[in-house]
Amino acid sequence: MNKNFQALLLEQQNGKVSASIQQIDEQQLPEGDVTIAVEYSSLNYKDGMVLQGIGRLVRSYPHVPGIDLAGRVIHSQSPDYQVGDHVILTGWRVGEVHWGGYAERARVRSEWLVPLPDGLDCRTAMSLGTAGVAAMLAILALEDYGLRPGAGEVLVTGGAGGVGSIAIAYLSALGYPVVTSSGRPEAEDYLRALGATRILPRAELALPLERPLESEIWAGCVDAVGGNTLARILAETALHGAVASVGLAGGNQLGSSLLPFLLRGVGLLGIDSTTCPQTRRLQVWKRLAQSLPKAQLEAITREVALDDLPQLGKEILAGRVRGRVVVNVGG
Ligand SMILES: NC(=O)c1ccc[n+]([C@@H]2O[C@H](COP(=O)([O-])OP(=O)(O)OC[C@H]3O[C@@H](n4cnc5c(N)ncnc54)[C@H](OP(=O)(O)O)[C@@H]3O)[C@@H](O)[C@H]2O)c1
Repeated sequence: MNKNFQALLLEQQNGKVSASIQQIDEQQLPEGDVTIAVEYSSLNYKDGMVLQGIGRLVRSYPHVPGIDLAGRVIHSQSPDYQVGDHVILTGWRVGEVHWGGYAERARVRSEWLVPLPDGLDCRTAMSLGTAGVAAMLAILALEDYGLRPGAGEVLVTGGAGGVGSIAIAYLSALGYPVVTSSGRPEAEDYLRALGATRILPRAELALPLERPLESEIWAGCVDAVGGNTLARILAETALHGAVASVGLAGGNQLGSSLLPFLLRGVGLLGIDSTTCPQTRRLQVWKRLAQSLPKAQLEAITREVALDDLPQLGKEILAGRVRGRVVVNVGG
């Protein structure tokens, strides 16, 4: 007998995308060798774009969004996963090209999955989600470039956002002195509670560069903003420091000179959590679980239901969502 499940479904009519909660037949699920009862999903900047139908991320409708999911395997044709296993999925264009996590059921390819690591439950894993994977990829890339506690201040831009908040909490827990930038003066207490020692106004870092090199300030940076901000940070990065470029909330252009690279050996490290190889993903989730700043993560997370998402999609694009949002799918 066919079973129905609840999902947030996007439909397109006359070029306009609308969202509604619908009952879907399991037979409509896409092909894949593992079926999951989704327990939690999350909200990321990219989910906001998909929910609003912008950026041409979705290829065909009707579509189930949600780029992250965590849940329990209920059917498996893969030798790697058994019924009852708990798994995480982030990226691989799930929720964009493929149906995603805003539904009680997901059918996916086993090679996209990561086993839920020891020390995490599904809700905590989604409190991290793609934002956590991107933040930890950035930290690992900076460490690979040589960053260690004691090297100097590490900057995190877009501090009150998902990637920013998680990066501050982990860097601080790992012993780095963390400075952050934010456009929200009212978030000062929030950012200090995460471990930020100094907070810069967002506008200060976004000023256009007047010189190719500025005084050296940053030993490293996790940048969620891009644009003028990234150009300025590169010019302010100290000798043999590095900047991990994670996001473009402030623009996707980069007007920088080559001097930070050629005269200071500064590294510009690209982060792509979507296609990150499996071995690195496993390393990322292990580190996320091992160094978990549990209390801080809980404090930055709020829980919502599927029908809250259309409104929250608008808010995250407007920069009005603070920290992380987990979605209780309850499959
Ligand atoms: N490379 C990857 O794999 C990867 C993975 C996840 C996310 N991302 C990208 O990383 C960025 C952050 O994602 P997220 O999910 O953390 O989104 P988010 O929660 O909306 O955070 C973005 C933050 O950037 C700041 N911001 C917003 N608009 C800005 C503007 N016009 N100029 C400067 N700063 C601005 C805001 O922080 P304040 O209010 O504190 O200033 C905002 O909270 C996005 O661009 C996203 O696409 C990339």
